[in-house]
Amino acid sequence: MRTQVAIVGAGPAGLLLAHLLHLRGIDSVVLESRSREYVESRVRAGVLEHQSVAILNECGAGGRMMSEGLLHRGIFLHFGDTSHRIDFEDLTGRAVMIYGQQEVVRDLIAARLAAREPLLFEVDSVSVHDFDQERPYVRYRSGATEQRLDCDFIAGCDGFHGVCRDSIPAAALERFERIYPFAWLGILAQASPASHELVYASHDDGFALLSMRSANVSRLYLQCAPDEDLGQWSDERIWSELQKRLGSSLTTGPVLQKSVTPMRSFVVEPMSRGRLFLAGDAAHIVPPTGAKGMNQAIADVQVLSRALGSFYASGQLDALHGYSRTCLRRVWKVQRFSWWMTTLLHRFDTDNAFDRRRQLAELEYLVSSRAAAQTLAENYVGLPLEV
Ligand code: PHB
Repeated sequence: MRTQVAIVGAGPAGLLLAHLLHLRGIDSVVLESRSREYVESRVRAGVLEHQSVAILNECGAGGRMMSEGLLHRGIFLHFGDTSHRIDFEDLTGRAVMIYGQQEVVRDLIAARLAAREPLLFEVDSVSVHDFDQERPYVRYRSGATEQRLDCDFIAGCDGFHGVCRDSIPAAALERFERIYPFAWLGILAQASPASHELVYASHDDGFALLSMRSANVSRLYLQCAPDEDLGQWSDERIWSELQKRLGSSLTTGPVLQKSVTPMRSFVVEPMSRGRLFLAGDAAHIVPPTGAKGMNQAIADVQVLSRALGSFYASGQLDALHGYSRTCLRRVWKVQRFSWWMTTLLHRFDTDNAFDRRRQLAELEYLVSSRAAAQTLAENYVGLPLEV
């Protein structure tokens, strides 16, 4: 089999890249190791930046998002028993969309199938080869048969644990990493959200977040230990801890799903090697506090689809050579923001009383200075693609 671009991974990055390339008349094959049911139901992030919304709309995949998503014009910061609103609309003229990542994945799979373009689930033993040369290829197993997919380029959209990044010689990559000494215990609950907008809470006992997926489904998180034993957390204990940290009277309801998410900041440089290009979590991870993971993946593949478009239009590799540099400028700003939101709102074991007062002073400053609120708002609604 032969294609122009072999795409490893059918998450938001791989699927959106495939769709953007298709609209430019560029062929691709998407390979995914999991099943369609798995990727369509995996509960992940839920906030789309202004620009991510625009990209999904421009490529024709935004219809259901516009009717079922929730447009949010601000968030609340809750500390010291009071909630303070950060008004994105007033501060930036922009808003964000609450729409689950798995819904974006579903819409992009539907677009791919409607275009009758190749998307293969449950492929095994994917490996990437010869990307330092002009004719790279991907090997994989589908059922009992070994397959070889020849291509011009490979897009590694296979996430943090994928095979693409690790196929690049370690000496050719520089890794930047910070692991946080806490995690998030997250629940999805059949309960109407107690606030119409997200509430980020900084409490003496740790961070909490109230988010949602619809008028009847709440998504809530609590700061916990990285090795937290979910068995110790009954639904009652979770609700009462959330209640305490969020300071509002939450509507409780059946817990549909429970999980612990580790927190990590990670970047690899460069984001490409020869004819292999990394995008999304394969190249970088942010802690979820700034809601940036899926948005940076969308930004990466927008840059990559343009660069590939420029190659197929002109035969010139310049834009592809600039891919990593272009992405990394934004990636690092997003890293900085996610790290900052995380350190602002969480309790660190190494912090003392001074640090807690400093955190509270910073929160007070944020909600009392328009300049400070604006820096939060412009990062939250999303930095421009090329910064
Ligand atoms: C979510 O709804 O899952 C969510 C929202 C905001 C965040 C992180 C996760 O910062």
